[in-house]
Amino acid sequence: MIKRLWSKFSRRRRFQFSMLLVLIVVSSITEIFAVGSIIPFITILTKQSAVTDTEGYSVLAGFLYGMGIDPYRNALLVLTVLFLFAIVFSSAVRLLLLVAETRLAFAAGNDISVDMYRRTLYQPYEAHLVANSSDVVSGVLIKAKRMIGAVIIPVIRIVNAFFLLLVFFIFFINIEPLFFLVGVSVFGLVYALIGLSFKRKLLLAGEIENREHRQVMQVLQEGLGGIRDVILDRSQDFHVRLFADSDHKLRSASAQSTLLASYPRYFIETLAISAFALTGFLIARSGQAMTDSLPFLASIAMAVQRLLPVLQTAFQGWANLKSISPMLADILRSLETPVSFDLGEASEPIALRESLAFHNVSFRYQTSDVANLSEINFIIRKGERIGVVGATGSGKSTLIDISMGLLEPASGSVLVDGVPLSRRNIGSWQRSLAHVPQSIFLADATIAENIALGQAKESIDQDLLIQAAKQAQIYDHIRSLPQGFDARIGERGVRISGGQRQRIGIARALYKRADIIILDEATSALDNDTERSVMQSVESMSEDITVIIVAHRISTLHQCDRIIELERGRVKRICTYQELLNGG
Ligand SMILES: Nc1ncnc2c1ncn2[C@@H]1O[C@H](COP(=O)(O)OP(=O)(O)OP(=O)(O)O)[C@@H](O)[C@H]1O
Ligand SMILES: [Mg+2]
Repeated sequence: MIKRLWSKFSRRRRFQFSMLLVLIVVSSITEIFAVGSIIPFITILTKQSAVTDTEGYSVLAGFLYGMGIDPYRNALLVLTVLFLFAIVFSSAVRLLLLVAETRLAFAAGNDISVDMYRRTLYQPYEAHLVANSSDVVSGVLIKAKRMIGAVIIPVIRIVNAFFLLLVFFIFFINIEPLFFLVGVSVFGLVYALIGLSFKRKLLLAGEIENREHRQVMQVLQEGLGGIRDVILDRSQDFHVRLFADSDHKLRSASAQSTLLASYPRYFIETLAISAFALTGFLIARSGQAMTDSLPFLASIAMAVQRLLPVLQTAFQGWANLKSISPMLADILRSLETPVSFDLGEASEPIALRESLAFHNVSFRYQTSDVANLSEINFIIRKGERIGVVGATGSGKSTLIDISMGLLEPASGSVLVDGVPLSRRNIGSWQRSLAHVPQSIFLADATIAENIALGQAKESIDQDLLIQAAKQAQIYDHIRSLPQGFDARIGERGVRISGGQRQRIGIARALYKRADIIILDEATSALDNDTERSVMQSVESMSEDITVIIVAHRISTLHQCDRIIELERGRVKRICTYQELLNGG
């Protein structure tokens, strides 16, 4: 899984991780330098001469003579400085390593959550119909964050521990091989045993965490999303209970895995100190002078002091990795979902010049067992005003989504000027149409930004903006506001009325200079007067623009050239407004 994750990082990140590896190796070497330098230091503290007789010291002495210092007269000072230098230097490198690994881990976590969100947005519409948005939110926010703490950092720590052990091994194998090997195998065995017995518990806790994360997110979204009903029904307690239940499971699973990861520390520390005492005892019993063994004991003490925390974080890392593996599997899956859509750049231009036609189009939703549209045939000519009516559930919205290329017909084809819609041209087709839904999406931004949605403030075309606002009959209202186009709409458009909202939607469509504008029940939430004036703005649009209007109220469609009536997923008839009225 780690390998799969590795392949998700960019070249640059991988390079940075390689540099981090170099830093880890350097840091391990400085550690051993620090631990090693304690031996001559303690030796000289206990008995002066021996150290200065060694080969290593004569090499050092050569340097010192060059610097004008007498290494034999000042041996104590030299070794003290050397020891202090080694300690300070290795600590500095460790600090540097900490900064580098933390920065890098967070940057990599950011890459992952951005990539997850991007891939989600680039999924085809049908994939969104079956997905649950809580999954996405918990994935992008929380899971990606846990990736940092429970995957990336632990892996770095484990690698670090490995190298540190390796250099310590090389060092001690020369000094006291037997002692070191016995020590390492005892500690290794203890960790392995603990790990083995915790493995299942960790996995289980990880699965619970993964599941409840999603659940908590969903409960929150449902409670807040339906806040009006929650208040009206007095169902606050019900929602709190749902939340408390999931959140409790989530937190206790987290507590469980955190605890499991830190338990071994106490065993191991106790074991280490006991082993140390035992060694001292054995040395003393064997009749050796304590001063002879003191340097060695000190180096062991220091090695243990450096190694134990590292081993412990490595173990914690391993535990984290175990408990996060269910979540990691989810993340990898979402990072591996192909972006199946053409991103539009390479798409062939296609725009309505003559006609839009449905040829034998049939469609069925993934979760539906009956066909939702069957054998749909019609031709819409450029500039026509077309109405679509039908009972609820007759397939109007589905038909619209297919004509906009959001859904792909199961059979048959949608033809624009005789060219079938396909992945290659869908991008440009979608750019040449505008959709005004029943509830217009409004960003908490200025009116200008909402009309020119998706454009940066500086690049908004002011003339086009005013023209679109005038045609949508909202210009007078905007002018009456103290800040005009720069007035803010408020989150989800709380500061404007329903009619104004729909007109902003229409102005948005006009600003986009779409060839074809589709209104799906765009006015059905409005009262009759407001609807009439919004429809007036639709009718006053240029003759070149083709308009498709889905409506519940037949009266909405009285200006339409032709009306398509749907019944249970089929075209019942295509007729004029008058014929529709007469036909009842
Ligand atoms: N995401 C979906 N998954 C499964 N079935 C769906 C989905 N969306 C719609 N349907 C079904 O497809 C049929 C057509 O739905 P559609 O939304 O097109 O109807 P409509 O004519 O727009 O209805 P309304 O007037 O209520 O908006 C219905 O039977 C509906 O239950
Ligand atoms: Mg509908």
